[in-house]
Amino acid sequence: MTRCSSAPCSCIAKLDDSVAFDFDDFPWGCEYYLRTGKMMADDGIEQLRAFDAIYRGAVGAPSVPDHISLWGLLLKIRKEFDEYVNVRPVKLLEGAHGVITPLKNVGRGDIDMTVIRENSEGEYAGAGAWLYKGKPHETVLQTGVFSRVGTERIIRYAYDLARAQGKTLTSVSKGNALNYSMVFWDGVFEEVGREYPDVETHSLLVDAAAMNFVMHPARFQVVVTSNLFGDILTDLGAAIVGGMGLAAGANLNPEKKYPSMFEPIHGSAPDIAGRGIANPLASIWSVSQMLDFLGLPAWGAAVIQAIETVVRGPVLTVDMGGTASTSEVGDELARVLVAPND
Ligand code: IPM
Ligand code: MN
Repeated sequence: MTRCSSAPCSCIAKLDDSVAFDFDDFPWGCEYYLRTGKMMADDGIEQLRAFDAIYRGAVGAPSVPDHISLWGLLLKIRKEFDEYVNVRPVKLLEGAHGVITPLKNVGRGDIDMTVIRENSEGEYAGAGAWLYKGKPHETVLQTGVFSRVGTERIIRYAYDLARAQGKTLTSVSKGNALNYSMVFWDGVFEEVGREYPDVETHSLLVDAAAMNFVMHPARFQVVVTSNLFGDILTDLGAAIVGGMGLAAGANLNPEKKYPSMFEPIHGSAPDIAGRGIANPLASIWSVSQMLDFLGLPAWGAAVIQAIETVVRGPVLTVDMGGTASTSEVGDELARVLVAPND
């Protein structure tokens, strides 16, 4: 693989003689904000629109309030490009010291789920009101927005995936307490399901799902859930398969009308910033998702294979019990990556 040495840059990454990528690097993020007062260029969205995919590094800094760094970049990109599907794999690998999980009695392959998180509306719609500010009856409303189009399309995506992979589908909601949004969600899940009689389905309340992620993770294959529930459950999912250092996500606009975005689901870990010890494997895992999405599944699988080889050790970052630096892990991965032979 050719390597990019200058940032910002515009260069080519070559996987082998048949596959090469053109890529540009944008310096947008919190450092950029501290210099310019903006998280991205004014025409940043327009600039990104021309790309097939966006590969995003972790963003955030203690000196920049979250609502600025997130609504100015990450959430803005998800929204502007209608990346309504968030695909988050939760897969247990064999590590240097056995399987990498705090759970007992699970082995490699016992946890292998794909969480499909609704990524465009729900609790993240940004809708609500702040009333009577500073008054004794001050009241805030945070509205969850569940449109029929938005709910149907994510549920349909999950059914299609479950069908294509011959997997079961679990919907996670909370219809017993959220008497509008989640009753509606459950209804749509059932309705759309009539078109997929071949897909085995389960429906769980989110609190019970959280418990079962820990007690019976093998029961889950494809999971579909709302934006906030998916956010919370995928951190739990990361915890049971090795931590945030291995947790990746794809923000997809499946119709490819706009670019999709691939990222680690963790933050920028400001506590260890600049020390070169962050685990790069989550970011690399999201490259595998990007390769799948770009129509190169054999390469996507090769990257996962290389991650599996690396996690067996000994070249690991400190969060995985090793002493290696970020770039040593990256170099090791590049060394063990085997090109597919198609
Ligand atoms: C994630 C993150 C974001 C989210 C934050 C940073 C807004 O936690 O991608 O899971 O909640 O979606
Ligand atoms: Mn999250």
